[in-house]
Amino acid sequence: MKILLASSEVHPFSKTGGLADMVGALGKALAAAGHEVAIVTPLYRGIRGRFTDIKPTDLRLDVPLGDTRVSAGVSELRLNQRLTVYFVDQPGYFDRLALYGENNTDYPDNPQRFIFFSKAVVQLAHLQPFGPFDIVHLHDWQVGLVPVLLRHEAHRTGWRAPRSVLTIHNLAYQGGFMGSTFAFTNLPLDYFAPTGVEFYKNLNCLKAAIIYSDFLTTVSPRYAREICTEAYGCGLDPVLRARQGRLVGILNGVDYDEWNTHRNLHLRHPYSFRKMAGKAASKADLQRELGLPVRADVPLFATVTRLADQKGMDILLAALEEMLATDMQFVILGSGDPNLQRGYQNLSRRYPTKAIARIGYDHALSHRIEAGCDFFLMPSRFEPCGLNQMYSLRYGAIPIVRRTGGLDDSVVDLTEDDTLADGIKFTDFTSRALAGAIRKAHVLYRTPELFAQMRKNAMTADFSWGRTTAEYEKVYQRALA
Ligand code: ADP
Ligand code: GLC
Repeated sequence: MKILLASSEVHPFSKTGGLADMVGALGKALAAAGHEVAIVTPLYRGIRGRFTDIKPTDLRLDVPLGDTRVSAGVSELRLNQRLTVYFVDQPGYFDRLALYGENNTDYPDNPQRFIFFSKAVVQLAHLQPFGPFDIVHLHDWQVGLVPVLLRHEAHRTGWRAPRSVLTIHNLAYQGGFMGSTFAFTNLPLDYFAPTGVEFYKNLNCLKAAIIYSDFLTTVSPRYAREICTEAYGCGLDPVLRARQGRLVGILNGVDYDEWNTHRNLHLRHPYSFRKMAGKAASKADLQRELGLPVRADVPLFATVTRLADQKGMDILLAALEEMLATDMQFVILGSGDPNLQRGYQNLSRRYPTKAIARIGYDHALSHRIEAGCDFFLMPSRFEPCGLNQMYSLRYGAIPIVRRTGGLDDSVVDLTEDDTLADGIKFTDFTSRALAGAIRKAHVLYRTPELFAQMRKNAMTADFSWGRTTAEYEKVYQRALA
């Protein structure tokens, strides 16, 4: 099949979260399975400097945007015979300090930026040099208007447009903008209706994608069920329920070329479940690097995360207030909500030998933390898939997770299966329940045989892309049928 993946972030070029990892890995996996794959994404500041093989093409995009026109270049990077990345080069929109906003505030012209990008994707689907695509696979709201734009274009010109598949990585981000921004789509006003792209008088890009895509997926089976309920539906549950027959949950895979403990340029001490000395050395290194007492006998808890409402960092802060009285160490790497940043910095000032807060984004440090910690905390309010718990498993860091979304689908608790158990789960979204789970981790840490068994289970759990790729192939077939 010829498949075009469209995403506003793609690892290793740009990333704010798991979306980038997933799309980068999906592209590689589909190409390895024999498909012809193109990925389209914005050319943000700094990408060209880091990837000097990126070359401009002769392609020129010229996009109507309300009553103006915006033009853009297209650069390309051929990653292998079957995988090419196209970068939309529109410096006014994308040559900026950040992807979506600065100082925790979105760029005010995000509607223009991503309506433009969605239109660029549609033009590229026309212009692309290697023949018509069978499937355009969209990721999240930033490209949510693509299916309706494709449909309108097909209707207007008789073009046999590719089929569209939407993957919802996070229902909480919908690209909802004031109704007046609908004008940037240049679509007939009929589409701006409750049965179309309108949602309570606003333009809603994700809703548009849910309605107009040929097929829908989300990133874990449990989240696929959750988003059809009022509790997790973020207002769109009725729209999703109406399309439930065309919605499946597919758990993300892990790119083990990148996330492994034996051949990893970020780690000084390779290790495996048979030779765990490197894990102990990684822990000592991490304690030294962070200025914590270098002790093997104390459990080290960690998390690496966006500091967003979703991640449950508020209940973690409260749980730590209680638990830091025990003999434990804790490190957080993250950035986002200024209140949470301050909260964790204060905690670290009060417990300088126990709690460390690193505010910022640091890819290499995230690998060292996974390798160095004993327990990885993900107390999410909701979690579409979550990649860090799967990375933690491979790094032999026992994940402590709330029973929701992909966290529930990827971690096995002792109460579920004591021979396969590889993590600790809790149910209620409260600091009390989380503190209870941390207490269980303390007990586990003092029960070496069980701890070793669970680590082995964790490190041998397999989330490689093969199974995930096969499930996407089935979805593409269904979209084409
Ligand atoms: P989400 O996409 O909701 O943020 P995931 O668990 O799917 O959650 O993916 C998060 C990804 O982003 C992981 O690869 C994680 O390591 C990375 N990440 C998040 N915050 C940081 C940070 N401050 N520094 C480095 N990597 C981070
Ligand atoms: C989103 C979700 C996260 C998921 C990632 C990749 O950012 O919040 O749970 O793992 O997308 O699909």
